[in-house]
Amino acid sequence: MTMTMTQTTASQSITIALSKGRILKETLPLLEQAGIVPAEDIFSSRKLIFDTNHQHIKLLVIRATDVPTYVEYGAADMGVSGKDVLLEHGARDMYEPLDLNIARCRLMTAGLVDPKPVQGRIKVASKFVNITKRYFASQGQQVDIIKLYGAMELAPIMGLADYIVDIVDTGNTLIANGMQPLDMIAPISTRLVVSKAAMKMKHAQIQPIIDSLSEAVERAKIAAAEVIS
Ligand code: ATP
Ligand code: PRP
Repeated sequence: MTMTMTQTTASQSITIALSKGRILKETLPLLEQAGIVPAEDIFSSRKLIFDTNHQHIKLLVIRATDVPTYVEYGAADMGVSGKDVLLEHGARDMYEPLDLNIARCRLMTAGLVDPKPVQGRIKVASKFVNITKRYFASQGQQVDIIKLYGAMELAPIMGLADYIVDIVDTGNTLIANGMQPLDMIAPISTRLVVSKAAMKMKHAQIQPIIDSLSEAVERAKIAAAEVIS
């Protein structure tokens, strides 16, 4: 079943904030399966707002880390965001009704396979500073956190940090840099989030989108299982 079109007024229009980058390539086929298709090719456009085949649904294409901010403030009604980004942000004032089951990976601590002895307080490099702070506090460990924006694996090699907190998928990036995964902090996948205010005010428009995306996720799971068997 795909979403049925409803007569809407401008005030009932729905804006969905999509994470650009890795997640976007997997999000668009799911949206299409749910009957939501951008009016033009997102990848060959410099636009940030896209119309869709539904007059009342618009898509924003923004930095992954900005998605929960747009949803929190109600500037977008819904969003598609990695659980890592949601945990780091705090994701206040939004519901998380659906696991889209894409971009699955793990958030882990990692260190060098052959580490040097730690000098002084443990230093941990990450772009996930809030998650890192909470995780080590929960372990009763006081650490110095060094904020980086990418290529975390370089930090222990260059002596900037003793450990990192980062996404691990295949583990190839760690191996290629003489590192190993250590502790699992959280399993990660991409989630659908909905602004609490929008869920209340625009429920009639939002619920069919959640339902049709949920069905699309289930169909994708069945298709993936068929490929494996
Ligand atoms: P930004 O552009 O805002 O810095 P980013 O570079 O982290 O974001 P992507 O690399 O596109 O953005 O990753 C987006 C999301 O994809 C992450 O938040 C995470 O949920 C997931 N992800 C990141 N790396 C992997 C990976 N190696 N395998 C699977 N999923 C991943
Ligand atoms: C992500 C993550 C790791 C890598 C893990 O990096 O930060 O470096 O993927 O994947 P793997 O376990 O399959 O090797 P990404 O490619 O998104 O680069 P960036 O975070 O430095 O932008």
